[in-house]
Amino acid sequence: MTIIELNDVKKTYPLGKVQVEAVKGVTFCIDKGDFISIAGPSGSGKSTILNMIGLIDTPTSGEVRIEGKPISGLKDKQLTTLRHDTIGFIFQSFNLVPVLNVYENIEFPLLLGKEKMAKSEKRDWIDFLIKEVGLEQWRNHRSNELSGGQRQRVAIARALVAKPSIVLADEPTANLDSATGEQIIELMKKINREMQTTFIFSTHDAKIVEIADHVIRLRDGLVTENYKKEGEPACGEN
Ligand SMILES: Nc1ncnc2c1ncn2[C@@H]1O[C@H](COP(=O)(O)OP(=O)(O)O)[C@@H](O)[C@H]1O
Ligand SMILES: [Mg+2]
Repeated sequence: MTIIELNDVKKTYPLGKVQVEAVKGVTFCIDKGDFISIAGPSGSGKSTILNMIGLIDTPTSGEVRIEGKPISGLKDKQLTTLRHDTIGFIFQSFNLVPVLNVYENIEFPLLLGKEKMAKSEKRDWIDFLIKEVGLEQWRNHRSNELSGGQRQRVAIARALVAKPSIVLADEPTANLDSATGEQIIELMKKINREMQTTFIFSTHDAKIVEIADHVIRLRDGLVTENYKKEGEPACGEN
């Protein structure tokens, strides 16, 4: 089942007197539950595409559909709600709150949303996620006491806390050594399999691309390759 659809999406940024064409007409579909890599060199448009899927940026033209809904007609408030309910984010710089501990960092998105989770249910869920990412022994440590790999584990748990159907990770391994980076992608894949959450991560690292079951390769704002390891992509060129 298709969960994300981009149809001839373009994104242009004004830069002084010129227009930068970051994304030049991109069409692809993503199936629910897949583990997808958006691959490409720096400047190829990876972040721009993830930001449009993540509802933090809007296309200049073309259409983005999330769970079948075209996002173009939505008002800011509806976008915020859809984003909170549907999308989890993981960033390359982790973006944790340094003075909060592991538990509190993971809890943080729930304080911003309208989840009606009972206190004990919430605690059990966060503790489950802490276990899931292998940080039981670090539960009460501040995030600034953790290594890069551990911080990214916290960020993965935080991305999952509001039970999103899609997790977006923009170069989640860029600030990690290659062995730690691979462990982080493997952890994401494990969670993808267990929870059937759709994961989309961007990278320029060829080795990490291999772990994905759907690869969308970009160059200069265009898709140059779009393939699944099993079956065909639901839509898109190549
Ligand atoms: N806010 C912006 N203003 C102007 N140009 C931008 C902006 N964001 C991205 N770009 C340009 O768009 C292109 C694609 O950028 P980006 O999506 O960040 O690529 P990637 O994530 O693959 O490195 C680059 O040429 C970049 O310089
Ligand atoms: Mg980027």
